Amino acid sequence: MKARYYVTTPIYYVNAPPHLGHAYTTIVADVLSRFHILKGEETFFLTGTDEHGDKIVAAAEKAGKQTREYVDHVSRLFRALWPKLNIGNSDFIRTTDPHHQETVKTILNTVKDKGDIYFSEYSGLYCFGCERFYTERELVDGKCPDHQVEPTLISESNYFFRMSKYQDWLIEHIRAYPDFIRPERYRNEVLAFLREPLEDLCISRPKSRLSWGITLPFDDNYVTYVWFDALINYVSALRYPDGPLFRRFWPVAQHLVAKDILKPHGIYWPCMLRAAGIEPYRHLNVHGYWNVNQGKMSKSLGNVVKPLDLVDIYGLDAFRYFLIREMAFGLDSEFSEEALVARINADLANDLGNLVSRSLTMVHNYFEGKLPEPVVSEAIDDELREGALGLIENYTSCMEELGLHKALALIWEFIGKLNRYIVTTEPWVLAKSDRSRLAVVMFHLVESIKTVSVLIWPVMPETAEKIQNLLGLPGKGSDLRLEDVKQWGKEKPVRPVAKAPHLFQRIGEQKKEDRRQETEDRRKREEDREKRKAGATGPQSHEHRESQSPGARGKEPQERAEGMGKGKVSLKEFQALDLRIGTVKAAEAVAGSKKLLKLTVDIGEERTVVAGLAGIYGVEDLVGKQVVLLANLQPATLMGVESNGMLLAAEDESGVRILVPDGQITPGSKVR
Ligand code: MSP
Repeated sequence: MKARYYVTTPIYYVNAPPHLGHAYTTIVADVLSRFHILKGEETFFLTGTDEHGDKIVAAAEKAGKQTREYVDHVSRLFRALWPKLNIGNSDFIRTTDPHHQETVKTILNTVKDKGDIYFSEYSGLYCFGCERFYTERELVDGKCPDHQVEPTLISESNYFFRMSKYQDWLIEHIRAYPDFIRPERYRNEVLAFLREPLEDLCISRPKSRLSWGITLPFDDNYVTYVWFDALINYVSALRYPDGPLFRRFWPVAQHLVAKDILKPHGIYWPCMLRAAGIEPYRHLNVHGYWNVNQGKMSKSLGNVVKPLDLVDIYGLDAFRYFLIREMAFGLDSEFSEEALVARINADLANDLGNLVSRSLTMVHNYFEGKLPEPVVSEAIDDELREGALGLIENYTSCMEELGLHKALALIWEFIGKLNRYIVTTEPWVLAKSDRSRLAVVMFHLVESIKTVSVLIWPVMPETAEKIQNLLGLPGKGSDLRLEDVKQWGKEKPVRPVAKAPHLFQRIGEQKKEDRRQETEDRRKREEDREKRKAGATGPQSHEHRESQSPGARGKEPQERAEGMGKGKVSLKEFQALDLRIGTVKAAEAVAGSKKLLKLTVDIGEERTVVAGLAGIYGVEDLVGKQVVLLANLQPATLMGVESNGMLLAAEDESGVRILVPDGQITPGSKVR
């Protein structure tokens, strides 16, 4: 029978748009899922959004929206982000999905029928941020350790899950399966918690206080506690109890979470499963936190890192590589753009990029891309082959034990070896003196690069597939498995090996400077907007914070009604802007960016303008169109292309539209 693999991310709260932390967990899940595909396994990868509870209602109110409208909107932001990060999830679940709600009710009934749910009066300290009751000893200086607020004393009648009944079983289970919760530090943390008596879990909220939730099947006056509801997503997505997916994938379930939600996953969830008569999951994999400037990311500190901002500047695979290479799974890591740039320059542009481009260029130049069958190999070649085969084994063990950063380090050690092999064997000398030896050397290089391309595919799918294409291989990505590269020389090229372009650009001082400037500008705009908002009454949409406006640097939306009339400018100030009518002559995608288009705009002279319009407008929609261009904006370089000007555009909930004149106007005409 084919081996299977089921991996889940947490379902993310829809009270704010996605940030670096959400992107990290989801990328790790994607990497693991792709690794298991490489092993030839049947995989299922689940992510989604958690949409009930107090904090969602509060966020919707703050945004001035109906709860339903608000959750749809933020859930869409998550769903839309994942393809942009090349996330290959099999399903996206929402806790507002009807089939999920049905499963929650089924499980509640089962647990109730078993006698594990009872009704009782309860008085306790409640943190609205965490949506749970706290015991005195859990508080730090009388405050919730997460939200630093004093909890509210609440007295009410509620339904309780008899979690205490499962404490001994859970301790036994964790002891019997040492890798049930991993890495070990988190297993120890859960065991330490279980040394104290476990309290029963309050699993309802009276509708008088909160109506946005799943109604209890046995009492219309209550909704289900958001964690009892949310955790069930992992089985409802598989259509528990009768769905074929459930039968196939639940026995191999692995959850991936950060340390912040260890307790619900390490304690509540296994007890809930036990009470419902469902087998426990196989593994709970717990990672650490990304910090920024030594602290938590937070909106108030203005240090929330938005994934797409980084992808736009540095490219998707560089971003994915950095996250996986930089964080030791289980430990916290510090995020910094300096570290990201250092990795791109050293590991990607220098080590991998140079290896591929010089090797493939030599095969192209010396053999017109068609390598002859190699003849006798020498010790140095055999060592390389052994190194490649050994690498596959070691890489596999690291990936299986979640040492993802170690797996990458091993690949890069091998890349170092390959670069040294080139220096030692000097193919450029062999090209003049010994072509049959040259063929052997180039064959070993090409085979090794093929192995590297397969091993990096989980982390850098685009780059891996690009290399596989250049190598002229018949398949790419998931067509090439670990088994294929274990057989040295098995996958033969079907096309000549192509001359390789540079896979990664070095990030020089200029680019870093552009980036710093952009970040600073954005911060300023955000600060201004916050200031305006403080005096404003109108609702503020979340979408705007994560959205992209088309102008090269215009990452913020145009001002909304609440800002109008404030910060007035004089006519003279307005006249300082050189706005011109232009005609788009040509448009093309900017290499390495999913968002940017390079436009050639005629404003009496030809201007190159980089605009964030890909995915919003097709190239063919733009060519021939007249636009309004801010012509005296300082130039900026984006993804290696210098942009000289910015298109004007407007944005609302439905998306971005560029401004066009109402009729044909001579290019270069001034806009007044
Ligand atoms: N809705 C719950 C989860 C329910 S699962 C049944 C929730 N949502 S959340 O939006 O707050 O997401 C928390 C998760 O986001 C973390 O466990 C982690 O996966 C990810 N991260 C959020 N911030 C993070 C960092 N700063 N660093 C790393 N991961 C982080 O909790």
